[in-house]
Amino acid sequence: MAYETILVEQRDAVTLVTLNRPQALNALNSQVLRDLGEVFAAYDADPSQRCLVLTGSEKAFAAGADIKEMVEKDSADFFLEDFFSGWQSKVVATRKPWIAAVAGFALGGGCELAMMADFILAADTAKFGQPEIKLGVAPGMGGSQRLTRAVGKAKAMEMCLTGRMMGAEEAESAGLVARIVPAADLLEDALKTAATIAGMPPMAAMVNKEMVNLAFETGLAQGILTERRLFQILTATEDKKEGMEAFVAKRPGVWKGR
Ligand code: CAA
Repeated sequence: MAYETILVEQRDAVTLVTLNRPQALNALNSQVLRDLGEVFAAYDADPSQRCLVLTGSEKAFAAGADIKEMVEKDSADFFLEDFFSGWQSKVVATRKPWIAAVAGFALGGGCELAMMADFILAADTAKFGQPEIKLGVAPGMGGSQRLTRAVGKAKAMEMCLTGRMMGAEEAESAGLVARIVPAADLLEDALKTAATIAGMPPMAAMVNKEMVNLAFETGLAQGILTERRLFQILTATEDKKEGMEAFVAKRPGVWKGR
């Protein structure tokens, strides 16, 4: 089946999903979520598929939620749509194992999507960041919660407050990624790792995933919901409007502080 925003292929027991919006550096719009939701549900339901790899391009895993889709929405839109909630119900809810293979930019929602994976394999070119503050908002897909749990408060706070990017080496030493691989070998390594997991007893793989997540996530659900509500509230500010319009117009933002 063909999808608008992703490419999907099966390699024996491994499903390979490639984000495919090169014109927008794989920015995550509603169609990406719909496409990924279908593919992850099909993967979960297909006993012949035992591991999944999600990857992007050499330049960008994903440069964030799609700012052009958010720029005109107001706070009530975000709240009433429960904007971003689908990532939890359609992607995080996947019961079988999956890996994010990240090269280039993984920013904002891109970093958050990578952190939804069971683990991240990073190319040496990978750059992680939560730059939402520069748009007058804050993470809304779990970033403030998962990044803090992965790398600790100090680094997470610095990254969220400054929007700075973290390179692959720093990400590995901080515990954000499982391993670094030379960019040229990323896909091959990820597929090989996925094939190893696919060779394990499937139910044991699901239970192992659930157990590690239990350790990681206890208390997380409330954090994610609260984060989403706060994101939706921040979108009411004038600085959100200014930040997103400035991005689209390719000019620096001018902040009002409200
Ligand atoms: N949304 C929509 N479009 C995006 C995008 C995004 N997040 N990121 C990049 N693009 C688009 C650009 O607008 C540009 O399109 P045009 O050619 O039509 O102008 C195209 O992708 C290529 O991008 P650049 O020309 O900017 O490429 P660059 O190499 O000069 O810069 C970059 C790369 C540093 C990643 C820069 O694109 C950038 O800063 N992107 C935005 C990053 C960001 O702020 N992400 C957070 C989004 S908000 C969010 O994710 C909320 C949340 O919590 C879930």
